Amino acid sequence: MSKADAMAAKVLPLMPEPTPSEPLVEVRDLRIQLRSRDGARLLNVVNGVSFPLHRGRTLGIVGESGCGKSTTALALMGLLPGSARVAGGQVQFAGENLLAKSEKEMRELRGAKISMIFQDPMVALDPLFTIGDQLAEPLERHLKLSGAALRERQVSLLQAVSIPSPETRLGQYPHQMSGGMLQRVVGAIAIACNPALLIADEPTTALDPTAQAQFLDLLARLRDTYQLALIVVTHDFGVTARLCDDVLVMYAGSVVERGPVREIFDHPRHPYTQALLAAIPQAQEDRQGRLRTIEGQPPDLARLPQGCAFAPRCPNVRPKCHELPPPLREMGDGHVASCWRAGEV
Ligand SMILES: Nc1ncnc2c1ncn2[C@@H]1O[C@H](COP(=O)(O)OP(=O)(O)O)[C@@H](O)[C@H]1O
Ligand SMILES: [Mg+2]
Repeated sequence: MSKADAMAAKVLPLMPEPTPSEPLVEVRDLRIQLRSRDGARLLNVVNGVSFPLHRGRTLGIVGESGCGKSTTALALMGLLPGSARVAGGQVQFAGENLLAKSEKEMRELRGAKISMIFQDPMVALDPLFTIGDQLAEPLERHLKLSGAALRERQVSLLQAVSIPSPETRLGQYPHQMSGGMLQRVVGAIAIACNPALLIADEPTTALDPTAQAQFLDLLARLRDTYQLALIVVTHDFGVTARLCDDVLVMYAGSVVERGPVREIFDHPRHPYTQALLAAIPQAQEDRQGRLRTIEGQPPDLARLPQGCAFAPRCPNVRPKCHELPPPLREMGDGHVASCWRAGEV
């Protein structure tokens, strides 16, 4: 255990070890519809997402912008917009279906047992309140802390996210800190009440490269110290390589591939996954300013093709792909992919 880990472990007591065979989170066939912006129709924004997640493990949800990653994350938090409805499925958390809970019950879980970190710390934090005030909010609300105990916990939490001079920082306002430091504050607020599940939606997109790397390392450390089940939503496969045990690739609201991170990197079966992997900036290409990207755009959800949603952009397309959507098929070792040609090597 490093010094930082030892310090973090002292700050918050570890939750009891989970039964190893039992996932903390089990999402089954989650379906979410959103009313289109013109109000004319219901779009299938999340289309049958399933995955298990154990404590101490990290799942990456990857895909281009607009493929349903954030909507999936928000459904787990009970924070879907008013224009959305859950059209089917289950979100099992510690043995209970979150989708059956009332808003009042979800308010008790959110920020306590389940927390979320959003992309931009400047939006997540209120510019008019000190760091200390914002850190106090969940501690007062969920843990009923006050006085010296509250103060002690505020300081410990800033230490847990490696913020130097925590006593000074507590009295400062967001504009007095860098983006990287602010995202650490958001991280401290998220773990304030010892959650079991932490969801981070594009947590490093707003940070400079050095702060990005540091924040990913911090997430990994917090996960290991507190045995968090961690979900990281990202459009960047590089982030998953650094942090994740399993990867779920989404395209146009559907899971196209899911499996252990090494399997996905070494043997991607879906052409969309292959294209995303090829688009990871290579150091060489970066220097020459040449970045490979994927040709074309994801489809309009209001006009999904009849067959595979990726067929119009797919380099390996066959006539069958235009006729029927491919089902998710088992590739072995917990690896699944939905491509008519996934079985071919
Ligand atoms: N409030 C909303 N009203 C209507 N459509 C929305 C709303 N929020 C998101 N969408 C649409 O839902 C789809 C999925 O969005 P989102 O889950 O944010 O994707 P991602 O996080 O992968 O970028 C997109 O096509 C987006 O345009
Ligand atoms: Mg998003």
